[in-house]
Order: sequence, then C-alpha cells, then structure tokens
Amino acid sequence: IPLVPAAQPINPVSFAFASGSTQVRFDGSSERMGIAQAAAPLRLHLGCSGAAPPRPTSLRVGVGFGSHARRKGGRRRNPPRAASSLHPSSNPRAHDHEPALKPPAPAPAVDVAGRDLNGAADHAPQQRRRAASDLEEEAWALLRESVVSYCGSPVGTIAACDPNDSSPLNYDQVFIRDFVPSGIAFLLKGEYDIVRNFILHTLQLQSWEKTMDCHSPGQGLMPASFKVRVVPLEGDEEGATEEVLDPDFGEAAIGRVAPVDSGLWWIILLRAYGKCSGDLSFHERIDVQTGIKLILKLCLADGFDMFPTLLVTDGSCMMDRRMGIHGHPLEIQSLFYSALLCAREMLTPEDGSADLIRALNNRLMALSFHIREYYWLDKRKLNEIYRYKTEEYSYDAVNKFNIYPDQIPPWLVEWIPPEGGYLIGNLQPAHMDFRFFSLGNLWSIVSSLATTRQSHAILDLVEAKWSDLVAEMPLKICYPALEDQEWKYITGSDPKNTPWSYHNAGSWPTLLWQLTVACIKMNRPEIAARAVEVAERRISTDKWPEYYDTKRGRFIGKQARLFQTWSIAGFLVAKLLLENPEKSRILCNNEDEEFANAFNLMADSCNPNRKRGRKAPKKTYIV
Ligand code: GLC
Repeated sequence: IPLVPAAQPINPVSFAFASGSTQVRFDGSSERMGIAQAAAPLRLHLGCSGAAPPRPTSLRVGVGFGSHARRKGGRRRNPPRAASSLHPSSNPRAHDHEPALKPPAPAPAVDVAGRDLNGAADHAPQQRRRAASDLEEEAWALLRESVVSYCGSPVGTIAACDPNDSSPLNYDQVFIRDFVPSGIAFLLKGEYDIVRNFILHTLQLQSWEKTMDCHSPGQGLMPASFKVRVVPLEGDEEGATEEVLDPDFGEAAIGRVAPVDSGLWWIILLRAYGKCSGDLSFHERIDVQTGIKLILKLCLADGFDMFPTLLVTDGSCMMDRRMGIHGHPLEIQSLFYSALLCAREMLTPEDGSADLIRALNNRLMALSFHIREYYWLDKRKLNEIYRYKTEEYSYDAVNKFNIYPDQIPPWLVEWIPPEGGYLIGNLQPAHMDFRFFSLGNLWSIVSSLATTRQSHAILDLVEAKWSDLVAEMPLKICYPALEDQEWKYITGSDPKNTPWSYHNAGSWPTLLWQLTVACIKMNRPEIAARAVEVAERRISTDKWPEYYDTKRGRFIGKQARLFQTWSIAGFLVAKLLLENPEKSRILCNNEDEEFANAFNLMADSCNPNRKRGRKAPKKTYIV
C-alpha cells in the first residue's frame, strides 16, 4: 500500500487508505467500496476556529480520481439551515443586485481630450470628478458583494456576480488569479483580513491530494479556483451541514488545464500583503515558508529543458484555453521572474534552503538574460531577423533558434513602430510567436525582467499603437487576432476564441491595473490615466463586462460575463494607485544591480563584434 507518511504534524485528521476495494479507516473500521470510491483516499477534518488554519498533510494513498477527492475540505458543524441562507455570497443568484446597482447617470460621449461629442460645452471638472467618485462607490459596492465567506470569515471574491446568468459554469468560484486585483484593492483600502485569509486557505489547498486519471501533479501546485460548498454533515441524521473548500486544480476545468500562474500570483500577493499591512513576520510562519518552497521546487525542478524559461502547456495562465501559447509563453515567464524575486525577499535563511536559494539566483540571472536578449523585438531586431541565415551549426550561431525569416508575419512589417518595441509572446526552436501579449509585457516592466530601456520602449509602443491596443476599451489581451486558417489550426476552431473576441485579441478591462502599475513604475502615470478615462466612459453602463469584442473593443464580448469581479477590482486598483502612486511599490521589483552588470557583460560576450579583454563578473552564474 503506497502510503506516504505525513510531512508535518497536523491538527485533527482522520484518514483512510485504499486496499483493493476495501477502505481501511485509521479508526480501525473498514468498509467495502468500488473503484470510484477508492478515489477518496483521505478525508481531512480541519478546524475553522483558529485564525491560522492548520496545514493539511499530503498522503498519497491508492488511486484518486472523481468527485470524492474533491469533497475534502475544512469543515465546521453548523446548525441545520438552508444552504442558500448560509452563504448568499457564494451563490450569485441568491443576490439581488439591484439595490447596489444604482449606476451613476451614464457618462456622456466624450473624445480623448474629454470634449463632449454632442457639441455641448465641456463638463465642469467638478462634475466629472463627482461622476468618477460615484463610479468608484459603485465599484466598491459590487466588489463587496462578490466577497465569499468561509467559516464566517471573508476568504476571496467570486469571479462574476451576474444575477441574470443562469449558467455560471465555474464563474461562481474564487479564482486565484482573479482575486489578485481584489486583494490589492482591499490592501490599498487598509482591509487586510480577507487577503490574509485567502493566502492561508489557498495554502491549505496547495497540499491537497489531487489527481486526474490516476496521475498527480507536483505537490506545490496551487488550484485555479475554489468554491465554498455547504454539504450535509456526513453521518448526521438531524440534517446538520458543514462548509467545505472544494478546489479545482484543473481536473474539472474546461480542457483540464493546469494553472501554472496560480502559485506565482500567490507569492506576489503574499509579498504585497506583507509590504502593505506591515505584518512583515507573516511570511516567516513555517507553513507559509513551506508553501513558498513547494512552489519554488516545482518551478525549479530539473527537466529536459535547454532554456531557463518555464516550459508549460497551452492554457496554463490567464488564457486558459488553447491559443497556441504552449512552450515558453511570456506571461508565465514574467510572473515566474517576479515570483522568484518576491520569494527571494521572503525566504528565511536556514541550513536547508541554501541550495534552493542558489538555484533561484542562477535561474533569475539566466531567465533575465534569455528574455532580454532573445524575446526583445524592435525595428532594428526585426530587420536582423529578416536577414537571418539559417541552418547554422556552431556554438556561436547568430540565429541560435534557427528562425526562418519567412515566419515574419506580414502585419508585423507594417506594425512595428520606428520607436518602441516589445517582448515577443513565445520562443521555441524554429518558432517565434510575434504577437504582442499585454500582461507579459506589462509584468516584465513591473518585475524589472525588461531593462529600463526596454520598459520605456514597451510603453512607447503602447502609446504609438493606442488605437490598436486601447481603442474604445483598454486593453487588448494580445494583438493581433488569429484569423482564418491560423485560427482554425491553432485554436482548434474554438467558437469562443473567434478573431477579436475573448482571448483571441479581445479587450479586457482588468488589465488596467497591471498597465497602471507598469506606467507608475516608469514614471509615466499619464498613460494609465488616459486609459482609465476611456474605460470610465462606458464600463459601468455596460455592467462591468469581462471582455469586449471587435478590433476596437466596441462591443461587449459575445459570451462575456457581466459584473465580472476582476474588471471591477482592476478598475479600482488603477484608480487607487493613480491617487497614491507610491503604493504601487508593493507590487514592483527593482532591478538587481549585480544582475544588471552581469547581464551587460554576458550580452557583450554574446555579441560577435565584442571587444576582447573586458572583466568577467565577480560572481559566477550558471547559465
Ligand atoms: C476565464 C478566463 C480566466 C479567468 C476565469 C475566471 O476562464 O480565461 O483567465 O481566470 O475566466 O474569471
């Protein structure tokens, strides 16, 4: 019987393991069950009372799949009452949104400079300010309505709260990535508990037994989302109920995608929590340290890779369905880099962590070099690629990845501005994904994965391509759309990802907050302020959609949810940070000087025209 013992002592836990078709309980009893039931290898009983929830152990026992494994969770005995009355916030249809939804009078149509398009006189600044503050009030009311409670405490926000949506799919769950802007909004407002609870409860879920068709992913994986369920208390005849946390690691998600970004966002939010709340000892807790290390170990594990970038499948991040981003997508790399830097700041030095910290530093160095050098694209670089020779077999090949110049898409030749540049979406042998991905580029600025020059150039490009990337609603998730045959082959003819819709170059208001952090970091907040103004004109009247369709973001997305929480929270974070720009420091990472020097020397040594005789860096980095 493959029973792996508990890694750490934990609080009351009763567990069972499967032996053939008999489940043996540790209390000595046993019961017969079928294969599907053997899927319930352990049942954890976790107290809800303490502020610090105990960390569950991971017991790899028997074969696990199916619904039972998903029924494990923190539990509390409740007096019998209707489930819906217990958790209105976890049931979007239990809400009556109308009272909170008294949107301010729709903002009149105005041009970029704020002039009334109907020819009326310019609005008094005072009036505009009032409209903006009404909008913020509305956004706060909606954000608070999306809060989900577990055992009486707030633990997250539901993905979308549309009272008229009859099939919410998994939008009634707390998504890890979606909660980040909600969490930041609450932090900026001085409401720290919800973030602390979220961090601790998702930490519990990290060690859950998770399997899909008999296979378990790495232990550090964080779920994509979780739900608070109210279920009848097992064995209780009086109808008592209990709450359980029910995570989804991708085993139920559409396409069965692994949420690689969840753990990275978790680390980033953890650091932001400490910096904002001043609770700097929080990350020193043993369970939190273990959580950080599990994520790092999973990401830093040796594999077959030749590249320092993280190798992932399609759909492992915000674009959580097939969009041709398998391999080394920029979004994951920038979050990875940011999470490594945040983790390095928080890891407490101890004997056992020296190897991990060494591996982390080496990876940081190699990753920043790789991205800055090989993902960077501007007009000059594009011309270089255009003239590449191929089939170079040597150590000092110029065209290292054997990119065929014919791959350069026709749109790019026209699109690349004379000034400015960006990091391409993906790099693989003989493949460059030349699409512009907003989140990856913005977070490369925030995390200092991009150099200062590159960061400014990315913002120059955003300005130069405003009518493509912002247009009538910020911000395009990527540019341009996959169309015709490309759409057919790359997305598998996905009807949700049709050209200029959803992930396929739709416009996502939530990206406003990342744009704002990046602009503030580069001391160019006016760019973000302009984008916020564009969003303000219609986002509330449109009922805070998840995304917009068409080239210029003119229509509410075909299948977009309304009252999408991260659209609301993203808007709020952008507003709050523009009011208090210094607060964006809780999210930014500064350039590591030692790395910058080493990078310059390495870049120099990779340049075939380099001058000889320059000094090597003092420290050695394995790249
Ligand atoms: C969609 C998005 C994903 C998001 C989820 C919940 O699946 O693609 O990024 O986390 O909805 O809003």
